[in-house]
Amino acid sequence: MSDLAARISELKTEKNAIILVHNYQLPEVQDVGDIVGDSFGLAVSASQTDSDVIVFCGVRFMAESAAILNQDKIIIHPEPASLCPMAAMITADSLRELKARYPGVPVVSYVNTTAEVKAESDYCCTSSNAVKVVQSLHESKIIFTPDENLGKYVQRFVPEKGLILWPGYCDTHQNRVMVADLRALKEEHPDADVLVHPECTPEVIDFADFAYSTEGILKHCQSSQKAEFIVGTEREMTYRLRTELPHKKFYPIEKAICPNMKKINLEKVGASMENLAPRVELPRDIIEKAKIPLQRMVDIGRG
Ligand code: 13P
Ligand code: SF4
Repeated sequence: MSDLAARISELKTEKNAIILVHNYQLPEVQDVGDIVGDSFGLAVSASQTDSDVIVFCGVRFMAESAAILNQDKIIIHPEPASLCPMAAMITADSLRELKARYPGVPVVSYVNTTAEVKAESDYCCTSSNAVKVVQSLHESKIIFTPDENLGKYVQRFVPEKGLILWPGYCDTHQNRVMVADLRALKEEHPDADVLVHPECTPEVIDFADFAYSTEGILKHCQSSQKAEFIVGTEREMTYRLRTELPHKKFYPIEKAICPNMKKINLEKVGASMENLAPRVELPRDIIEKAKIPLQRMVDIGRG
């Protein structure tokens, strides 16, 4: 263990802190995490922890969700500039305009949104329960924002409903995970399952064997009889997979990087714990409104 990692371990005890880490974080950050997981699992962990301080190593919307679900804790985000560009593709104003065009139609917002957009939504979801959340609604028309690819994926499971989609996307999954990349890996490794994230394009999802959230990808690899997997999501997912399943083989798409996830490093984690800053602080009225759809997402559970 490096000196810095050892100091971070001391700081956890000194500050009664827990470190939550998304599956796309740098290996050195994953290694100091108390819990490493997907956005759904981390939101649940944030809502259940007894620690006084939550150090959230993920993009901003994830740290905000922890702050919304857990108002009596100090939430530290080691790099506030670690933003998800998809979350910036819809604003609260544009969602209000969309709602005005479809009065009475419920809004399901992917958790990859700002707190202000959540505050305008009826339900949140992650890719691990998007289908379940939409299926739980009795309305036949549903506004689903902002990820169009995830919306199209959900639509496959609910042909009886009409989803009103928003043209948001994740650059990493839309432009860096391509059918040609998966095909080339499959030619090299013909026995491997091809696993992708539902943020990928419909063509990529059609080519793949399975589409899951990041934690769903891990669960599939744990329970599968197969020994090899092609991983069509952010590259660092394979670090988590190799850590959990060292006897299996994982093939990433090397260019599939989320630059924002890489803005957090061990130095920033250590400094933020020493200073208990930067903190995530949101206006009280936004927290109160955003908590309703987020808590519904947690209560509905994984799909
Ligand atoms: P997961 O919820 O599957 O962890 O995905 C989060 C994300 O940002 C995917 O790009
Ligand atoms: Fe956002 Fe895409 Fe990065 Fe996920 S991988 S945090 S959706 S930019």
